[in-house]
Amino acid sequence: MHGGNEKFSWKNVLPNCKPITRVLSAGYDPAFSEMSAKTPIFPTSTFLFKSAEHGERFFYLMSHPEERGQDEDPGLIYSRMNNPNMEIAEDKMLVLEPGAEDAAVLPSGMSAISTMCLALLKPGDIILYSAPVYGGTEHLFEMVFPKFGIETKPVYSPEASEYRGNLDKYKDRIAMIFIETPTNPTIVHTDIQEIAGLAGEYRSAENGIKVAVDNTFMGPVFQNPIPLGADLVIYSATKFIGGHSDLIGGFVLGKKGDIRLIKSYRSVLGATTDPFCCWMISRSLETIDLRVKKCSENAAKIAAFLADHRKIKKVVYPTVLDKESSQYQIYKKQCRGPGALISFYINGGKKEAFSLLDNVEVCKLAVSLGGTETLIQHPRRMTHADVSDDMCEKVGLTDSMIRLSVGIEDPDDIIDDLKKALGKVG
Ligand SMILES: Cc1ncc(COP(=O)(O)O)c(C=O)c1O
Repeated sequence: MHGGNEKFSWKNVLPNCKPITRVLSAGYDPAFSEMSAKTPIFPTSTFLFKSAEHGERFFYLMSHPEERGQDEDPGLIYSRMNNPNMEIAEDKMLVLEPGAEDAAVLPSGMSAISTMCLALLKPGDIILYSAPVYGGTEHLFEMVFPKFGIETKPVYSPEASEYRGNLDKYKDRIAMIFIETPTNPTIVHTDIQEIAGLAGEYRSAENGIKVAVDNTFMGPVFQNPIPLGADLVIYSATKFIGGHSDLIGGFVLGKKGDIRLIKSYRSVLGATTDPFCCWMISRSLETIDLRVKKCSENAAKIAAFLADHRKIKKVVYPTVLDKESSQYQIYKKQCRGPGALISFYINGGKKEAFSLLDNVEVCKLAVSLGGTETLIQHPRRMTHADVSDDMCEKVGLTDSMIRLSVGIEDPDDIIDDLKKALGKVG
């Protein structure tokens, strides 16, 4: 926040505490708001300048942020550019993402990805990306960016050799490696450290390849990509960060210079997150650790039940993976918990999968994930309906696949629900 009282300035409070303690105070100085214990909402489109000189200086600093003095207030101008609630959400998120120097809040996960790419890439560049990715991301990469001269190349296997092959082939044109790990919906893990190491080998003075990780499924509670070598971390805040299926939001975190550029693109593209949404995100960040750990604990029980069921062909979830598999090794290396997303394949195809979806009563039939309630959906015909048959075949995204995002209910209720619904599948 801007100005304030030293005693209450959150930067001076509890500096040695753990992130889950600091997130409660981060970003907010009560001395500014009548000592309100909780963060107010600032529903204003514009901000008053104390003098014309202040206004001039704030505009100057907006386009020359590097010239800001150490204790100089960067100033608030207009809510498309910035707002206290945006800053509070960013400061709280920053506490939870180790290694990140700055954060930008955006109005959706898709906006986080598109704004980041538009800010950091140029025509002629290539994005190498782990396939599959979320259906919207895939559409952006395959259908939209090529129109602007940005090419994309999917990598169908998490093996580093596949990435190296592409880096050798396209040499200097690869400007970004975009990894979604684990992937939506196939729950495939990519070794972030290995891919970041590879990018380091090919990086040159002319081509500073960026490694961007979509950390929506595991982070920030169970996975932090920056200490593993990633440059940028992206979130759909709609999921675990918001956590109640009641908002749409996103974040990009990374180095100061990259985030500064992303924020300037955010302003001109008009990708503003409104104050109320930022306030909801800030409120939700206070409980993310509790929620995500409970969802994950429940998911492990449900995955064990599904893995044992005779009508289920295969379950993809860390705790039921073969302990010798490379997927399990990657999971152990970079995640602190298995997460709340389970993908499983039912015996049969679309008919059987739809029958299960139509017969559940406690699980809710809806796309999205990361909320307090368990959501179930059919990726091939819903979130990933746009993905080409060829890509679906290559990544095993079949009609028998179902994705479950486990919530905070009593897991026995979800297991009973699935048991009854599976009993009705012919
Ligand atoms: C992994 C992942 N990234 C990005 C997105 C896009 O997020 P949003 O819907 O907030 O734009 C999603 C949405 O489901 C997702 O699952």
